[in-house]
Amino acid sequence: MAERPKILVTQKVPDPAYPLLEAIGDVEANMEEGVIWPYEELLRRGPGHDYIYSLLTDNIDARFLEAGAASTPRLKMVANMAVGFNNIDVDAATRLGIAVSNTPGVLSDTTADLAFALLMATARRIPEAERFLRAGKYKGWGPLLFCGAEVHGSTLGLIGAGRIGKIVSKRASGFDMKVIYYDVNRMPAEDEEKNHMTYMSMEEVLQQSDFVSIHTPYMPSTHHLIGEREFHLMKPTAILINTARGPIVDEKALVNALQTKTIAGAGLDVFENEPAVEPELLTMENVVLLPHIASASLGTRTLMATMASDNIVAHFHGQRPPNIVNPEVLG
Ligand code: GLV
Repeated sequence: MAERPKILVTQKVPDPAYPLLEAIGDVEANMEEGVIWPYEELLRRGPGHDYIYSLLTDNIDARFLEAGAASTPRLKMVANMAVGFNNIDVDAATRLGIAVSNTPGVLSDTTADLAFALLMATARRIPEAERFLRAGKYKGWGPLLFCGAEVHGSTLGLIGAGRIGKIVSKRASGFDMKVIYYDVNRMPAEDEEKNHMTYMSMEEVLQQSDFVSIHTPYMPSTHHLIGEREFHLMKPTAILINTARGPIVDEKALVNALQTKTIAGAGLDVFENEPAVEPELLTMENVVLLPHIASASLGTRTLMATMASDNIVAHFHGQRPPNIVNPEVLG
């Protein structure tokens, strides 16, 4: 690649990402904070770039990738500024010889922090109590005022025990929680012991947990992993926490489980059809709803942003991008 590559950044990202890209290429960037290009605009702007620096809100589907592959210059890589890459059709990218990268690791602690914050907020009814106070309804301390669920000493069930799940377990140990987990890949016994995590079947995890927290990637096999059947296995006092991806949970089944008191509450950072939220959830006091902010600390977002740039820069220099998702395209 003799010429300076053309790079498209689809949303405004933390500043340190740009000079890294500008040092190697010509950068076109959406600099309007909070503006997400609709799919048709993305499709119109994408072709003619060597590199696309994408966000999880960009639908990088086969059509987009094919248009990039057919353009001049040819699309060479999509660098997603997220650990999850379910917004990208990786199979199509691989077929077209387009590299895909993500930003794993740097957001694990921050995401685990927020999963725990959601767990605490939902269990102890913090947003609900705050709404009550702000509404001027607080008339004095009461023995039954906002009694919530016990966190310390309770059982936390992790569905998925990768990087983030293991750190959530570490947070839980500070609260003397018992941690049980299910993952398609059981960890070696010494790691279970070191992490104080007990492996169980998915059914057992659902049946025994006071809190069920999801930490799996979203892929066809995890679509609606938690639905009506799973809610019925859970305790009526159980609280569901989801900081992974919305479609892992059947959101309509969740609404039903909450309405019928099949489970007690939910703390959600992600939704099935973001940014839409099932309207009934908005009316429920026993759910805490956040706008997909699990990795949103400035420090972490800056690390993610520079990591995505580093992946592009490495590819440009003919090196293996450190976080390549489909290394087979590199030959
Ligand atoms: C956030 O959801 C991410 O995948 O980084």
